[in-house]
Amino acid sequence: MLSTPANPAPPTLSTVVDVTPKQLENYAKLIYEKIGVTISPQKTTLLSNRLRRRLRARGLASYDDYFKLLKSAPTSDPEWEAFLQEVTTHETYLFRDENHWNWLRDKFVPEMIAEQKAGKRRPALRVWSAACSTGDEATTIACCLMDRLPAAPAWQVEILGTDVGAGAVAQARLGAFSERAMRLVPKAYRQRFFEAGTGGACATMKAAYRKMLRFETHNLLEPLKEMPFDLVVLKNVLIYFDAESKKRVLSQIKRVLRPGGYLITGAAEGVSELVGEFESTCGWLHRWPGSK
Ligand SMILES: C[S@@+](CC[C@H](N)C(=O)[O-])C[C@H]1O[C@@H](n2cnc3c(N)ncnc32)[C@H](O)[C@@H]1O
Repeated sequence: MLSTPANPAPPTLSTVVDVTPKQLENYAKLIYEKIGVTISPQKTTLLSNRLRRRLRARGLASYDDYFKLLKSAPTSDPEWEAFLQEVTTHETYLFRDENHWNWLRDKFVPEMIAEQKAGKRRPALRVWSAACSTGDEATTIACCLMDRLPAAPAWQVEILGTDVGAGAVAQARLGAFSERAMRLVPKAYRQRFFEAGTGGACATMKAAYRKMLRFETHNLLEPLKEMPFDLVVLKNVLIYFDAESKKRVLSQIKRVLRPGGYLITGAAEGVSELVGEFESTCGWLHRWPGSK
């Protein structure tokens, strides 16, 4: 845990001096080292504004002191959580990218059922929504699977959602969504899988379906200690990574996919050069052949 200075005098705008280009560069390097996200030169004004907010919130007047606090703390520390909340984007909503979910319902699920009928798998599925933000993507996956899997035999479905942001993960665990997040959810799904939300939320996933979802904090640059997965969904995060960090993340994904398992990436993720060992059907769908 990071310690707060005893009785700090609240800094005023005049006591928080301007951050220097060198200090900004050091912060950008630190973010890159810790979570792999690249802060482009165009984003430095945004970074300096966000840093200023954190300094004031912590009662610090020096960018170097705040840098030291962050550098010595793990990304699981509450201050990293607050900092990442400021500098990363959590934009997400249910049923984002319709074609991915059509594939899941019309191709993936029938293939899994055929494998089960042929005795090649138990009626069980494991899916990882990596960098899941507030859980909208994992919840979409749950809806699509429940819609298409047969009632008998009863399938055991586990969907793991992970994100480096502890606040996003805490929100995901509530299973509660705003009207904006729900806007693309088909009406039949709203009625079947959701109930009216409370406390400002428009809708909450019904407890019977939430059981199959689990949310944990996890940094994509680090190994995930769970495997194997039949499907990994990794969307709208690698766009913030450079080629080196993308490679690191993909090497972790390969470790946890079962042979024949699938990876869905975002359309603009820039991974075409890096997924050579996968069989890629199109820009966003990649199949892991596994050991030959
Ligand atoms: C734009 S959201 C994408 C959410 C969802 N996948 C979607 O497509 O709707 C990007 C998420 O990536 C997370 N993220 C960024 N770097 C990460 C890292 N190194 N490990 C895990 N999550 C990370 C952020 O916290 C953020 O919630």
